Amino acid sequence: MDRIRIRGGRPLSGEIAIGGAKNAALPLMAAGLLTEEKLILANVPRLDDIRTMAMLLAQHGLDITPVDPEGRRLAIGGQIRNPVAPYDIMRKMRASILVLGPLLARAGEARVSLPGGCAIGTRPVDLHLKGLEQLGAEIRLQGGYIEALAPGRLRGASIVFPFVSVGATENLLMAAVLADGQTELVNAAREPEIEDLARCLNAMGARIDGIGTDRLVIEGVARLSGAEHTIIPDRIETGTYACAAAITGGDILLRHARLEHLSAVSRTLAESGVDLSETEAGMRVARRNALSGTDVMTEPYPGFPTDMQAQFMALMAMAEGAAMITETIFENRFMHVPELNRMGARINVHGASAIVRGVPQLSGAPVMASDLRASVSLVLAGLGACGETTVNRVYHLDRGYEAVEQKLAACGADIERLSG
Ligand code: EPZ
Repeated sequence: MDRIRIRGGRPLSGEIAIGGAKNAALPLMAAGLLTEEKLILANVPRLDDIRTMAMLLAQHGLDITPVDPEGRRLAIGGQIRNPVAPYDIMRKMRASILVLGPLLARAGEARVSLPGGCAIGTRPVDLHLKGLEQLGAEIRLQGGYIEALAPGRLRGASIVFPFVSVGATENLLMAAVLADGQTELVNAAREPEIEDLARCLNAMGARIDGIGTDRLVIEGVARLSGAEHTIIPDRIETGTYACAAAITGGDILLRHARLEHLSAVSRTLAESGVDLSETEAGMRVARRNALSGTDVMTEPYPGFPTDMQAQFMALMAMAEGAAMITETIFENRFMHVPELNRMGARINVHGASAIVRGVPQLSGAPVMASDLRASVSLVLAGLGACGETTVNRVYHLDRGYEAVEQKLAACGADIERLSG
C-alpha cells in the first residue's frame, strides 16, 4: 500500500491548479442516468471516486467516454440495462447512493445495496428513502438492498427535510425532475455542489426554481435531453491548499479557486492570521505572522464545512493560544486527533468539541490515515512539522485529491509517494 513521506518545515510558494469539485462531479455523473442523450461534463477531476462512479454507471448500461486526451471531459449516455447497484461498489463509496433517485425516475425501478456504516459516522439514508416514498415510490429493504419501485411515474410532493442533507437533497432533486407535477423541497441543502447540479439539470431541460436557496421548486418534465456542463472548482481542495500555505508560512496562488464558495473558511482563516485575496487568476493565500487560535463550528453551507474541519485543526495545532473546534454534522469525525497528538499536538476531545492548545512546533512521525479529510490533515501537519512524517493508507487521499504530492512538491514541499 502506498505511503507519503514528508520532510516538513519548508514554506510553500508558487501556484496550484484547483480541479473540478469531486462532490459536484459525483451527482452530476449520476444525472447522466436521467437521459438517453449525451451529457458532457467538463473539468472532471481524476480521482478514484470518479472512477468508482464511472464503473457503477457502466454496469447500469451507460457509456462513459473521455472526449479529451486527459480524461477531464466525459461523455455519459445510453440506456439503463441493469437497475442494480451492487454491494461491491456501494461499499467502496457511499456517494453511490446517488444513483437511486435517477434510476427510479427513469427506469421505474432500482435495487441498490445499502451503503452501511462508515468511519466518520453511521450515516443512514432514511431521508433519501422517506422522500422517495413521498414521491410515490414503494420501498422495501431486502437482504441488505434497497428495493424500490415506481409504478407509473413518480408523483410530485412537498417534502420537508427535518435537517439538512446534501445527498438526500441531490437524490430527491434528480428524482423530482422527471416526476409528474410539482415537487417542493423545503430545508434543502444549499451547498454550491447542489447549485451546480440544479444548473446542469436545467440545462438538460429540467424546470427547477429557487436554485441556491433552501426551498427548491421543481416542475416535473417528461424527458430530459443531453447538455454540456463545466463542473465548479473544488472548494474543499482550495481550502485544503490554503491551509497548506498557512501552516508552512508560505505564499501561494490557487488557480481557478472561487472565494465566493469559501466565505466561512476564508473568514475563519483571516481571523487566525492568514492573508487571503481574490485575484483574476484565482485566490492568493499567504501567512507572514503567527497563527492565532480561532474557534469554529461546522455547519451546513454557508457555514464552515465539515470537510474542512480536520485541515483547520492541523493548522490550529500550531497556533498561538487555544481553539475550540465543534463538529455538528458527523458524530465521529475526530479520528485525526490521536494521530495529530502523536506528532506533538495538544488536542482533547469532549463530546462534539475538540480543544486544541497550540504548540510552537509539531514533530514528524509515522501516522495512519482513517478517512479522506483526516488523511490530508496529516499531510498538512507533516508539512508544518519538523522532521519526517510518513502517512500510511494513502488510498483514502487518492479518492479525493488529485496528484496531491505533485501539486505540493511543485510549490517547494519535500514530499514523495513511496510505493508498496
Ligand atoms: C456529503 O455527504 C459529502 N459527500 C460529504 O463529503 C460531506 O461531508 C457531507 O455532504 C456534509 O457536507 C458528497 O457530496 C459525495 P449529508 P452526505 O447527507 O450527502 C445525516 C468528503 O470528505 N443523514 O449532508 O452523505 C448524516 O449521517 C465527504 O468529501 C441522516 O441521518 O452528507 C450526517 O450526520 C465525506 N439521514 C448528516 O445527516 C440521511 O438520510 C449530513 O449528511 C442522510 C443524512
